Amino acid sequence: MANENTLPMTTVAGAPVANNQDSLTAGPRGPLLLQDVWFLEKMAHFDREVIPERRMHAKGSGAFGTLTITNDISKYSSAKVFSEVGKKTELFTRFSLVAGERGAADAERDIRGFAVKFYTEEGNWDLVGNNTPVFFFRDPLKFPDLNHAVKRDPRTNLRSAENNWDFWTHLPEALHQVTIVMSDRGIPASYRNMHGFGSHTYSLINAEGERFWVKFHHVTQQGIKNLTDEESAAMIGADRESHQRDLFDSIENGDFPKWKLMIQVMPEADADTYKYHPFDLTKVWSKKDYPLIEVGEWELNRNAENYHADVEQAAFSPAHVVPGISFSPDRMLQGRLFSYGDAQRYRLGVNHHQIPVNAPKNPTNSYHRDGAMRVDGNQGRTPSIEPNSYNRWNQQPTYADPAQAIGAVADRFNFRDDDANYFEQPGILFREKMDDAQRQVLFENTARAIDGASQATIERHIFNCTQADPAYGAGVRKAIEALQASKG
Ligand code: HEM
Repeated sequence: MANENTLPMTTVAGAPVANNQDSLTAGPRGPLLLQDVWFLEKMAHFDREVIPERRMHAKGSGAFGTLTITNDISKYSSAKVFSEVGKKTELFTRFSLVAGERGAADAERDIRGFAVKFYTEEGNWDLVGNNTPVFFFRDPLKFPDLNHAVKRDPRTNLRSAENNWDFWTHLPEALHQVTIVMSDRGIPASYRNMHGFGSHTYSLINAEGERFWVKFHHVTQQGIKNLTDEESAAMIGADRESHQRDLFDSIENGDFPKWKLMIQVMPEADADTYKYHPFDLTKVWSKKDYPLIEVGEWELNRNAENYHADVEQAAFSPAHVVPGISFSPDRMLQGRLFSYGDAQRYRLGVNHHQIPVNAPKNPTNSYHRDGAMRVDGNQGRTPSIEPNSYNRWNQQPTYADPAQAIGAVADRFNFRDDDANYFEQPGILFREKMDDAQRQVLFENTARAIDGASQATIERHIFNCTQADPAYGAGVRKAIEALQASKG
């Protein structure tokens, strides 16, 4: 590094830059000359420094780390990443806010994104989750609407409580997620102090080809810590980058944050009889029914040398699974299998898998060729044909997923007809997982967040809360009335 710093300045073509202070002009007070190619190169590059931000999860922080397996789960999955206790796998994690743009303040009330890329010997496995185990709805067709609801109003260019809550309250299935976001856990104190969840049901497949349904959990070893609305306002006033600073500094100081990787495992056949729809992203599986099983522990131990190179250009996708880990029929997951790669082909380009943070550590032998920014030699002289006469880069049938039974009738089935019990789990969360103080925090956070929405929207929300528990509806109403009274 020290030597590099003393090397002379060059253009991108490697030619010496003679003067980086004065542009080339016609006379000391005259206009610039088109011949100042250094000026042209420098300005043209600068004009293109910004890449499109992620449509959701634009503000984020990331770091590299290591997973260590602590428990043998090979009876559930043949994935090599889990193959032996003590096995280590490099990883990259990016945490994020969801609704805000790249300049958003870290301490806002919002869901936190929790994306982990494991560089396994069988390819990259991306677990692209959140700090909540559920989501607002069950069909990916609603995702662009959510985005429009939580982002800026088209006319005022302001975030709008009415747009946000009008949308949420029309979806009864959103109440579970809304309750979590409005609860005392709605503003984590830092990225280190929160759990993560794969959220969807995925599959694990063992060496015998048996499938198990699985949910992934990351359990923080730093303890859960949250901010109140008041603390968050003070934090944002003092430091808009509080999560970035906390994560970066703790890693830089050798205080490596750690999470335990845990799973809930459901035998394949249970899916037909379990009391909750097993592929419904608005519901959790009870830990009494499917207890947490430890898999390993991972830590973040290295900051990126360059934020843009690694954190901004990171491309995670739920489609990135490895043998022994697979999908489920969860409609939301199915929709995401398309959306991420599609977004990244637009945001970063068709060859974004070659960017070092995204490149697998194992050799890749696909027949994809060409495209913008192909920088790896494009597989040289290897002809891009398969089948071929040379036994070159053949498909690997031993890795095929076991066959899966699916319904035979294609239609636009109304998911609301299939396990329409949307209020039971938010009711359980409200009654059994919160104490009186936490319930009061939930009421008051909701009142502040919904403030500014129309009375009709407020009444719709109170109606939904009342379905979960009459005390939930009544508490929210009282808090809203108290807030309105305090404002006269
Ligand atoms: C980012 C789509 C639901 C977690 C993104 C991006 C897209 C997207 C297009 C930006 C990708 C990029 O430019 O690199 C969708 C769609 C969804 C959905 C269509 C529903 C159908 C979810 C759910 C979760 C989630 C349910 C969590 C369980 C994330 C995270 C990121 C992200 C963590 C940021 C990844 C990073 O740090 O780069 N989503 N999403 N999304 N999404 Fe989703």
